[in-house]
Amino acid sequence: MIKTSRENPARPDFPIHDLIRDRWSPRAFASDPVETATLGRLFELFEAARWAPSSSNEQPWYFVVGSRENPGDYDRLFQCLNERNREWAVTAPVLVLSVARTAFAGSGRTNRHALHDVGMAVGNLLIQATAEGVRVHQMGGYSVEQARQNLLIPEGYEPVAMMALGYPGDAEQLPGALARREQAVRTRKSLEEFVFRGAWGQGYFESSRSKAEPAVADQEEALHDS
Ligand SMILES: Cc1cc2nc3c(=O)[nH]c(=O)nc-3n(C[C@H](O)[C@H](O)[C@H](O)COP(=O)(O)O)c2cc1C
Repeated sequence: MIKTSRENPARPDFPIHDLIRDRWSPRAFASDPVETATLGRLFELFEAARWAPSSSNEQPWYFVVGSRENPGDYDRLFQCLNERNREWAVTAPVLVLSVARTAFAGSGRTNRHALHDVGMAVGNLLIQATAEGVRVHQMGGYSVEQARQNLLIPEGYEPVAMMALGYPGDAEQLPGALARREQAVRTRKSLEEFVFRGAWGQGYFESSRSKAEPAVADQEEALHDS
């Protein structure tokens, strides 16, 4: 796995798998031309997506891929992005749109888990990508209408999110404010705020947390201090 100072891993409170720790959403991508190796990895990434669980094994996920090797494909995807995302995504060698089929293929009834299941598939893809040294930045900032038009998305299918994929680049290649964000400490809510005991409201870990071992990040800091 590629590990350089250009990365920005999570600082978890409790131990987590390295692949989850190392996944993040960079804006700077290496500007090298797309290598065949990168494209080869796409097989593995989408194979990982393929093996995600889904409601009734419906597998409601679809993906439209545009790589720089095929400028027409790439541009059709790129044109869907809003200005703020275009600013940095322009260096990513591969763009992807995830799409959900919103009804069950058999019954035609609404599949209310379709978006969830597309997210599951993308989650698998992210973990596989991290293992391969490929970084992925998801984007909700795009025009759904433009995507429908440019990418010929049929009725009954819902564009979900776009993704920029590539190898990590240097924060310095980004415009000032974005470069600072790239290196900012990544934050998360605490477990107490979103895991509840028995019913909504009381944090599941509230009472036990104080007895738990010090947070991993705190342990690291203690090591650095000593
Ligand atoms: C569905 C979705 C939409 C997102 N949309 C954007 C976006 O339009 N532009 C952007 O820069 N980041 C976008 N992000 C990235 C999030 O901002 C990012 O995941 C979050 O800040 C946590 O950072 P991390 O992924 O590095 O842990 C999106 C992420 C997801 C999952």
